[in-house]
Amino acid sequence: MIARATGTDLAALVEIERLCFGADAWSETLVRAELDALSRSVLVAREESVVVGYASVMATGDLADLQRVAVRPDRRGRGYGRRLLDEAMRVATLGGADRILLEVAADNGPAIALYRAAGFEELDRRVGYYGAGRDALVLRVDLDAR
Ligand SMILES: CC(C)(COP(=O)(O)OP(=O)(O)OC[C@H]1O[C@@H](n2cnc3c(N)ncnc32)[C@H](O)[C@@H]1OP(=O)(O)O)[C@@H](O)C(=O)NCCC(=O)NCCS
Repeated sequence: MIARATGTDLAALVEIERLCFGADAWSETLVRAELDALSRSVLVAREESVVVGYASVMATGDLADLQRVAVRPDRRGRGYGRRLLDEAMRVATLGGADRILLEVAADNGPAIALYRAAGFEELDRRVGYYGAGRDALVLRVDLDAR
């Protein structure tokens, strides 16, 4: 089940950050700021009552940015990432966006496959975006063209 995150999900989201992003994980302060920001929609995937993944999308005007999509390592490959992404795209559309941009590490095969399957296309490459030798791909999807 995909739902809007609430303040009670904070600890679960911080744990997912730690499990999924290691040294690049957002701190509790950053996750709380994400939950509190008016421009952000934070979504959670629940299995029973356990939060197994989350996504955050920022929408301002007609442009949305996907900030995060992450699924606990022990719950991957079960469609949660795709469902979170679909819902983030739906929420962005409802908020008035007509396209979503995101950055993803050029070597993050699973995420790139997820985004491509959902219609995202490569717009550009940011060389060294994540540090020396770690490029980012900038991907875009047109929401009304799907
Ligand atoms: C990327 C991520 C969110 C995918 O979550 P998931 O729940 O495992 O994905 P799903 O089961 O919904 O898979 C949906 C599609 O994504 C692609 N995909 C997912 N995992 C994949 C993998 N390991 N290899 C190749 N393609 C993959 C496939 O196209 C898949 O569709 P299919 O099952 O019909 O082949 C997950 O791997 C993750 O949390 N990674 C770490 C965090 C991260 O890097 N997030 C992105 C940057 S913010």
